[in-house]
Amino acid sequence: MIRVFIADASQRILDNVTTRVGKEDDIMVCGTARDGEGAIQECLRLQPDVALLDTGLPSADGLQVTELLSQYLQHTGIIIMSLDVEQDLMRRAMLMGAREFLGKPFKGDELISSIRRVYKFEQKKNELATVGGDGGTTGDSSAPAGPTTLKGSVALVISAKGGVGKTVVATNLAVALGSMGAKTGLVDLSLQFGDVAMHLGLSPKRTLADLASSDAVADEDALAQTFGGAHGVKALLAPMRPEEADLITTGHVRALLGALRSQFLYTILDGPTHISELTLEALDLADMVIVVTDYTITSVKNTKNLLQVFTRLKIPPERLVILANDRDPIKGLTREMIISHLEWPELLSLEHDSQLVNTSIHNAVPFVISAPTSAVSSGIFTVARQVAPDLFPAAQPGPKAPAKTEPQPKKTKKRLGFART
Ligand SMILES: Nc1ncnc2c1ncn2[C@@H]1O[C@H](COP(=O)(O)OP(=O)(O)OP(=O)(O)O)[C@@H](O)[C@H]1O
Ligand SMILES: [Mg+2]
Repeated sequence: MIRVFIADASQRILDNVTTRVGKEDDIMVCGTARDGEGAIQECLRLQPDVALLDTGLPSADGLQVTELLSQYLQHTGIIIMSLDVEQDLMRRAMLMGAREFLGKPFKGDELISSIRRVYKFEQKKNELATVGGDGGTTGDSSAPAGPTTLKGSVALVISAKGGVGKTVVATNLAVALGSMGAKTGLVDLSLQFGDVAMHLGLSPKRTLADLASSDAVADEDALAQTFGGAHGVKALLAPMRPEEADLITTGHVRALLGALRSQFLYTILDGPTHISELTLEALDLADMVIVVTDYTITSVKNTKNLLQVFTRLKIPPERLVILANDRDPIKGLTREMIISHLEWPELLSLEHDSQLVNTSIHNAVPFVISAPTSAVSSGIFTVARQVAPDLFPAAQPGPKAPAKTEPQPKKTKKRLGFART
């Protein structure tokens, strides 16, 4: 039975929703409230499966209630209802932890499908968390409280040239993994001009620079105060001023990743573009390295150089994923040319979609959330499958098309338009 809590200032709406929900055999209304404070108290007591909250509640509005409940009730899925369907309001609701947004007036059937979807999602999330995702917030209540003991893995997203889509990939990948219920962290190691905050709509109060300057990168409390949370992931943001980047040392990176492995099932690093001591440290520690290139001659040439550096560093090819991002439709090379030049048959690809990608950056809502079935999201889920195969049982592909391993290319002798390196 799905237990639903409803909060709305209007008694008429409470009655209508209760009547509609009452027609379903497997859904029941476990409580109602007409103001925000009542909603918080009752939800904490009743722990519903799904809470349906109106934005215009008196005393504490629906978004404030959402923020609080998503902190304390990790197994309650929240649906926001609102007369106002402004994009910004939807975005804020999602940032606070709501899973769905219903514009008023809505049809009864829409409401029921939304409740079922949110309930299913929460169930899936809890299953994954019990398998190892949330560090013991479910399951055995006799398990010791305190620091978690996950053995999470780390994936570094890197590129040999700026602007090829590294941050787009890192943020959407982290959010995709988070959306599948895996506890996921994201670190902006693009320390001088990091963009993760912008892509996720976070305004940093504390950043990696604060952790580093107090040598507290592995301190659980300091980390908790520094994480910014959005769309189901916890992010550590790059310093606010470029000169603060120097505060972060290789020792900090090593200690930080050690601490994050015990808190997150997956940690995604949005890496720097240049090879520095810090990049080498991250490369050494990462379980998987995702190299992003676009289709331009310069980017592919530099990627080839980077792969040669990896060979010299003895980074095993099994740890590498190469992703060709069709960032610019006026591209210089074909996929086959890239495969041939890089000698990398398993090249993954990300489709071009200016409209979706740029809108998602502008609205700070990653496209894997706003358009999970789009081609470009499908590309991200393909990468997610490589990073986290356990999240993709064989019979259950990602949200859209099965994540495809790219077909074996024909070995082409076609010469590229630039000198061999
Ligand atoms: N698949 C895509 N389709 C269309 N446009 C894309 C795609 N991927 C990325 N872009 C565009 O490329 C821009 C650069 O992306 P992003 O900021 O992720 O690059 P980056 O590699 O992180 O850059 P930097 O080196 O500055 O960190 C985006 O703002 C977006 O406009
Ligand atoms: Mg970037």
